[in-house]
Amino acid sequence: MCGIVGYIGPRQAAGLLLEGLRRMEYRGYDSSGIAVVNGNGLKVRKAAGKLSVLEQELQDDMPSGTIGIGHTRWATHGAPTTPNAHPHTDQSGRIAVIHNGIIENSGSVRRALELRGHTFKSETDTEVLAHLVGEFYQGNLEEAVAMALREVEGAYGLAFISADEPGVLVAARKGSPLLVGVGEQEWFVASDASPLLQHTRSVVYMDDGEMAVLTREGYRIRNLETTRISKPVNQIDWDLAMVERNGHPHFMFKEICEQPESLHNTLRGHLLEDEGTARVSGLNLSDEELKQFERIIITACGTSWHSALIGEYMLEEMARIPVEVEYASEFRYRNPVVDQRTLVIGISQSGETADTLAAIREAKRRGARTVGLVNVVGSTIAREVDGGIYLHAGPEVGVASTKAFTSQVAALALITLRIARLRNLSILQGRQFIQALRLLPDKVAGILERAGEVEQLAERFLRNSTNALYLGRGVNFPVALEGALKLKEISYIHAEGYPAAEMKHGPIALIDENMPVVFIAPRDAVHSKIVSNIEEVKARGGKVIALINEGDKEIERLADATLTIPDTLDLLTPIVTSIPLQLLSYYVAVARGCNVDQPRNLAKSVTVE
Ligand code: G6P
Repeated sequence: MCGIVGYIGPRQAAGLLLEGLRRMEYRGYDSSGIAVVNGNGLKVRKAAGKLSVLEQELQDDMPSGTIGIGHTRWATHGAPTTPNAHPHTDQSGRIAVIHNGIIENSGSVRRALELRGHTFKSETDTEVLAHLVGEFYQGNLEEAVAMALREVEGAYGLAFISADEPGVLVAARKGSPLLVGVGEQEWFVASDASPLLQHTRSVVYMDDGEMAVLTREGYRIRNLETTRISKPVNQIDWDLAMVERNGHPHFMFKEICEQPESLHNTLRGHLLEDEGTARVSGLNLSDEELKQFERIIITACGTSWHSALIGEYMLEEMARIPVEVEYASEFRYRNPVVDQRTLVIGISQSGETADTLAAIREAKRRGARTVGLVNVVGSTIAREVDGGIYLHAGPEVGVASTKAFTSQVAALALITLRIARLRNLSILQGRQFIQALRLLPDKVAGILERAGEVEQLAERFLRNSTNALYLGRGVNFPVALEGALKLKEISYIHAEGYPAAEMKHGPIALIDENMPVVFIAPRDAVHSKIVSNIEEVKARGGKVIALINEGDKEIERLADATLTIPDTLDLLTPIVTSIPLQLLSYYVAVARGCNVDQPRNLAKSVTVE
């Protein structure tokens, strides 16, 4: 949700900023801009539309300067127009800012500034911030920013530069992610690590209430009151190849294909064959502590919320502990029953989703123990929870989440195993579960080898549809939700996921010969029920595409098309059933000419509420 990047050092900034924005474009892509300072003052260039529009405009006219800031936007206040694009400048036009977040009192501050003679060029909350800093500015950008930030409410990750101080970049964080990249005599700020990997792996994670002052000699972290803060420099273990497409047509496809490896990496080091349990030592919870929890709440947004639902099935079935799954955005504004005997698990690929972070803070405030299942190392959620499991799925760039989802399910399986073994699961059952987990990466690889079959189904049944229905039962009901979400978010076909039997209470009215219905129907405990549901759809002329296990003659006979998925334990089927559905949505979107990696109106990391 908006990407920001800043640079100070010996090199020309503009090219570095554009390249950094390119790597962060998944955070927002409705407009972009850069500002640099050189001997002639401040140069600001911005454009509505994808980053390529700005790149085109700058092709023969790159502003020179060795300090600069850049922004790629996901609009909150004001339409995605060029005037609303960042950077924004103050009244004098000599100070520029980029901002990710929302200044909540911008309306009142703007009115006060207008009364004092300020005029605004955009509808954004960010421009107000630039003007406020301009008003406080008396030759010291650092102090002016600190003073202005004491006046504003809301969330920000931001960076300022000034024409009058070509050797200073001032950044600040409250509620939106920001890190400092420490290079060889050059320094960066960025919303995440992806734009830095080419230049440095050394980063300092900023915390809320902190400012970073970058000069040509080094950097310093302080709070709004001038107190200097000493922070560790962390090493990122991602490399550049991991954030590049490496010959794949899209990031989403690359990430779908990476799942045998990402699953392996999530499970690595956790499976304790002899004891039939999972290590998950990062939870920071002793067996005694784990046994004391009376209930679990899992909270998340989007695709991560779907994996949470799968976790509910696993935990209740295997560990016999009550579980509730809550949308993070709802949890934080209710009055949830949470206390020291509640374990709250937050799931987030990015570790930065504002609602999930707020839900976790709320749970902590109410005395719960919090655990995070997070992919991005060093992200805010990862740093704020009491313990957790890193997914180690590698960077996920495609806006539609794929490999993070299957890794989240695998991590939930690990937590389930550990808790279940402490409660009622036998060592033998634990070992069987481990064996099934170990086989998953190869089974997933087998599905990927047959991607061509899915491509044909996409072409035959979904490419020209306007609607689709995804139906599953039990632990595959959340997979139906996820399959439908994948389709609608990247191909703009309206799709709904439903528990198969619930279809009779509404969606059945939509079924006719134009309605593709995707059934997730492995041979599990509810198989016979789902066969009846397929009959019901067929009786009304619907087109049935079914995911089945090898040799399921009964469904083969009924369905218009089938796709076989490998056998595994019932509770682990979501990992093998979700992959054909990811491929299905991918191929449909490609066939319809949609922008798979950057679907309209979406952003990868939703850092506003
Ligand atoms: C956005 C993304 C989704 C993601 C959701 C939650 O909506 O487009 O793919 O599932 O945020 O993100 P998180 O990083 O918390 O898992």
